[in-house]
Amino acid sequence: MRINRYLALCGLASRRKSEQFIAEKRVKLNGRIINDLAVDINPDKDIVTVDGKTVKPAEDFIYLKLNKPKGYVTTTNDEFNRPTIMDLVKLPDGRRVYPVGRLDYDTEGLLLLTDDGDLTNILTHPSHNINKSYIARIKGAITPEEIIKLSSGVIIDGKKTAPCHVKVLEFEEKTTRLEITIHEGRNRQVRKMLESIDKDIQFLKRVSVGDIRLGGLTRGKYRPLNKKEIAYLLGLKG
Ligand code: URA
Repeated sequence: MRINRYLALCGLASRRKSEQFIAEKRVKLNGRIINDLAVDINPDKDIVTVDGKTVKPAEDFIYLKLNKPKGYVTTTNDEFNRPTIMDLVKLPDGRRVYPVGRLDYDTEGLLLLTDDGDLTNILTHPSHNINKSYIARIKGAITPEEIIKLSSGVIIDGKKTAPCHVKVLEFEEKTTRLEITIHEGRNRQVRKMLESIDKDIQFLKRVSVGDIRLGGLTRGKYRPLNKKEIAYLLGLKG
């Protein structure tokens, strides 16, 4: 992350003001004066000081990742009284977070939750082209022609899907595991794409959103994003 952006996130000053601090040689990176405005820093490792005091980003917002299990709806309350993801996330001090986008009832995996509305808008806006990867298990095999068809776009709900990336992970005992990476966020998109080529979906899980990965997070559990993950998301705000 650029140093001036980092300083601005620390609540220290606007980006322009931060540049002035740097020009005045008041900012140090790991003990050495920063002379270059274009310096990049690693928020996880580097120590930045201004006038000798360590500065860190303000941690005003909550950013979480949840491993949503199958059988939960991605809403804050459900008209049919089904379990919602809010049943899984209990925060102290009455703070509330909201899901960034959706996973359908039968789909599990990575769901980001935050109270940072600007970020939610950015991540869910189609123009931002954030890649989302899914692991799908389907019945039977998939042919190279079908992979080409899926990845070059299929018609769902009367409109062609954008090109996407499809990779066969393994084929075993009459099922195939695929990794599908899309950047659109249409309703039940991956399921509909696979259904459009007559595939029977047995399992669907989201494993990444942009650079944020589900990793080894246990099903039904959540944890705060680490500094590097937060820095990545805040970097999307530009
Ligand atoms: N595609 C789906 O089919 N379901 C989801 O929840 C997300 C993408």
